[in-house]
Amino acid sequence: MTSIPHQPRWQADIDTDIVVQLLNQKKLIPFSMATDHSLTDFIRNILSANELKLSIKDKAFIARLNAGMASITHLYYQIYSTHPQKDELFEQLIATLVRAYQSREKDLCKRDEEKAKKGHWFLSNELVGMSLYVDRFAGNLPQLKTKLPYLEELGVNFLHLMPIFESPEGESDGGYAVSDFRKVDKKFGILEDLIGLRKEMQQKGMYMMLDIVLNHTSHRHEWAEKAKSGDPYFQDFFYMFDNRWIPNQYEEKMPEIFPEAAAGNFTYVEECQKWVMTVFHNYQWDLNYMNPLVFREMLDNVLFYANLGVDVLRVDAPAFIWKETGTTSQNLPQVHTLLQLIKECVLVAAPGMAILGEAIVAPKEIIKYFGTGDYTAKECDFAYNATHMALQWDMLATGETDVMLAAQHAILEKPFGTSWISYTRCHDDIGMGYEDYMIEMTGKTPFRHRRYLMDYYSGNLPGTPARGALFSFNPKTGDARISGTLASLCGLEKSLYENDSQGKDISIQKIILMQAHSLFLGGMPMLYYGDEIGYTNDYSFSDDPGKSYDNRWLHRPLIDWEKANRRNEEGTVENRIFSQMQALIKIRKNLPVIGDYKNLTWISPHNTHIAAFLRSFEGKSFYGVFNFSDKYQNLTWYAFREKGESPESLFDHWSQKEIQVGPDHEYLWLEPYQFCLLEPRQ
Ligand code: GLC
Repeated sequence: MTSIPHQPRWQADIDTDIVVQLLNQKKLIPFSMATDHSLTDFIRNILSANELKLSIKDKAFIARLNAGMASITHLYYQIYSTHPQKDELFEQLIATLVRAYQSREKDLCKRDEEKAKKGHWFLSNELVGMSLYVDRFAGNLPQLKTKLPYLEELGVNFLHLMPIFESPEGESDGGYAVSDFRKVDKKFGILEDLIGLRKEMQQKGMYMMLDIVLNHTSHRHEWAEKAKSGDPYFQDFFYMFDNRWIPNQYEEKMPEIFPEAAAGNFTYVEECQKWVMTVFHNYQWDLNYMNPLVFREMLDNVLFYANLGVDVLRVDAPAFIWKETGTTSQNLPQVHTLLQLIKECVLVAAPGMAILGEAIVAPKEIIKYFGTGDYTAKECDFAYNATHMALQWDMLATGETDVMLAAQHAILEKPFGTSWISYTRCHDDIGMGYEDYMIEMTGKTPFRHRRYLMDYYSGNLPGTPARGALFSFNPKTGDARISGTLASLCGLEKSLYENDSQGKDISIQKIILMQAHSLFLGGMPMLYYGDEIGYTNDYSFSDDPGKSYDNRWLHRPLIDWEKANRRNEEGTVENRIFSQMQALIKIRKNLPVIGDYKNLTWISPHNTHIAAFLRSFEGKSFYGVFNFSDKYQNLTWYAFREKGESPESLFDHWSQKEIQVGPDHEYLWLEPYQFCLLEPRQ
């Protein structure tokens, strides 16, 4: 794996003096928040009050705690300084960090050290992820172990297991309504199965990502049950109100997330006769982070997941964790303070775990999730590049790259040391959430443009090859998102149905174009299970009352392993897609220049149908050139010189052909939906 010179803060040389002072109770160091005692005294008191002990063997942890203390204090008191129990809970928070560190297994501590030595391990070109539902992909956790060779065959070495903690059947939102954060749902197995899987994955050099559903719990969670039964301590864990007076104030500015399935943001709870905030479904109760007890409990859960051996923790829906009347209650500054606080705590207790913030928000907002000011690159290590994902779909439907290019200045703001999850499809819908001005800049009308995309992908436009569906249509705003699998949205479902072999070829070409674009753009590619063998929409969800209200189940297939085995039969759809995905992944893994080192420059739109970028790293260059239109297109050779390089010959890793770069009045020609992965020959 490529490592780049850096020194993560938590790996900074351990100041042995501080450690010795702390342990021997000698000279004191000033503690930023308290004037009458020192940091060492402060920590020592917490340790003894909680019957915790640290010794010289813990010096790396002590150094991390020492280094993180000022930020943790600052961030915590920024949020909780007016809470009556603030100091007591702050001490408990520090004790939580010590306990989490002490229960971290030796092999995980070793893995932390190895990652630190590698540097920003998660920026590497060698990582290729896949997101999957354990039950729908393999059955359960032990069976998933038996499917690891399939994933290795494809080249996937990073797995996002969709939520596996206990969630009530029928009221589960695909597992995102958690009733017990620490109990694996019995349909998947038990905690030991998860640990066993993680160990096996680590032996194979694979990484694991799990979710923490930070914003809400299931209404069947113990805290919610106690709140229902009238316990005020737990009612304060949620946003609960006796009448509609405050809820109505919130509603004034809060948008609806699932307007069709769950209108409004509050639900009446018969048992306690109160209104509770439910931004998502009415069975998902929003946690009240104004209460530091909630923060402490959830931080403890974060660290519990860290100690299961999670490499990247996907923080679900963080944009929503702070609410205020008079605002949309999304992306508020306190959200960032809380995420920075979580990150600082993780750096102390489980430094090898990276954090992905699942904020699917506008470009100008998403960048803030990487941290700003003193906390730049110290908040989320990853965010989804949902804007670019949607823009790929925009390019595929329109055959034009202008809106995509108009959005890039915002996306490229991402700081060094952080990364995107780049993807074409996931378990959620596709929202055209980029800002209106990005569409207006290209001379188009935002409403009409989005309408076109919705009609195109939902199959409502005459002649469209796509077979998707509108998700969460809001008649008040005319807004909707799109559901459907990669294959169905690219036209494979229609062409198979119509037995149209030319249509089939084109849709496979489009699938591979979309995947290649995600794999080479930068960030960790996250494939979505089933796409590697061309799954089309699954319409069976409409017969299940626990799912029928949510058409995202269209694109959450139940894997049929006989279909998967057809990947070995020459010429089948499965074989054509799987083998091309394998080839793309192999190319990515062999090109360190594809690592996400803030090393992407877009090439001017010499031809509006072609998306072309230059990646550079350690003296190497790479050009990705993608024709998003259904016609032959050309790109002037000058495009390869405009950024100061002057390659004479380019090797296309995809076609395995050597291309001579011609004079400026000559062109590189691309077939419909063709792409080239070009490396200059030196
Ligand atoms: C995230 C998940 C989505 C879920 C929502 C509420 O956006 O990806 O599937 O419905 O959070 O938990």
